[in-house]
Amino acid sequence: MKTNNDFVEKVRTAIDERLPLEKMNLGALMTHKDVPQHRMSWAYYLGGFTLFFFIVQVITGLMLLFYYKPTTSEAHASVEYITHQVTAGALIRNMHTWASSLMIFFVMIHLLTTFAMKAFEKPRELTWVTGVALLLITFTFGFTGYLLPWNQIAVNATKIGLQTIEQIGAYLPGDMALWPKYLREIIQGESSVGQSTLSRFYAIHVVILPMMIMGLVGVHLLTVQLQGMSKGVDGEVKKNEKFFPFFVLKDFSAWGIAFLALFLFALCLPFESFFPYPLFEPYDALGSTPEGIKPEWYFFFAYYPLEMLPFWVVLLGGNLAMVVLLFTPWIFKGTSRKTLGFIAALGAIYLFVMTVFGERIYHLVKGVAG
Ligand code: HEM
Repeated sequence: MKTNNDFVEKVRTAIDERLPLEKMNLGALMTHKDVPQHRMSWAYYLGGFTLFFFIVQVITGLMLLFYYKPTTSEAHASVEYITHQVTAGALIRNMHTWASSLMIFFVMIHLLTTFAMKAFEKPRELTWVTGVALLLITFTFGFTGYLLPWNQIAVNATKIGLQTIEQIGAYLPGDMALWPKYLREIIQGESSVGQSTLSRFYAIHVVILPMMIMGLVGVHLLTVQLQGMSKGVDGEVKKNEKFFPFFVLKDFSAWGIAFLALFLFALCLPFESFFPYPLFEPYDALGSTPEGIKPEWYFFFAYYPLEMLPFWVVLLGGNLAMVVLLFTPWIFKGTSRKTLGFIAALGAIYLFVMTVFGERIYHLVKGVAG
């Protein structure tokens, strides 16, 4: 009986340490939180930037919903209508596309810096694990949003993405080999990418993911508020800044600058200008798969390895990376910040090289092999 009570007590203490709800009092949350000042202090703004671009996505996304039509016959035309007929439609659409890329960019460097600063350490495990879920949701936002304009490249790229899921079956034993196929059918909703797929992607993109992300961001931010910022560097932190009002004021000023930059980018540089014509023509089921088809830049880190290496190598590497990411607080418990910084730098170099030079490396490898 005693052991049973001990166990319950241990669980209660573990939860209390990680989610100290007794500190949930608005006055205390505002006055007690400090932000450590050191050479990595700039990294405390990165989660805020990710949050800012998410808020932009919600507002511009809602505006797009007034005109967007989620049917295979009308989706492309409705996007054209938004771009060419609706007052400021092109601007809002551009802001939505630019902010999606920026949100993904910032979530990636936010992950790398919180890792390097050991911000996942006890009692911040919950902040980290909800962060990993937020990362996956952010990428799923990108994948589902890509299909919505229903253009030739988007539909074909989605088909390839869904085929990749089914390929996993070849590496699973027995009946499990069929699971990826079922998963693909569930996501796709019919024999090929069509109206059911568009309806599902639409529901996921505009209802399911936003609900999930809002709940998770809520828990993520609550844990940060209750625990305070991690100290981020080895040794004593000599200087602290009050979260309220000083850090908050600087954070909001940074958001103001980010908004101005986003507005100017969206006004002057249509996101699509980076892609060659005719990739953005409406989808034609009888048309051929366009040359040069590839996913958005933020999937290059997985896409080019998939093109160059055997599928099972990428699958194994990807799954291993996911497990390590999820269990980071326990795997890297005793690791020094110096080593963590080194691993984060390697991760950043990999992401940079694959994103910027992936295509060149791919052609080089293909040239040598062929
Ligand atoms: C939608 C995505 C996300 C949003 C909006 C977000 C937002 C934030 C914000 C506003 C903070 C407090 C300020 C800061 O330390 O930067 C924070 C802290 C934190 N985030 Fe995120 N985050 C996201 C994703 C992630 C991911 C992918 C990870 C890692 C897997 C992560 C891990 C952390 C950790 C460990 C902290 C605590 C930092 C500390 O105590 O110093 N977050 N996040």
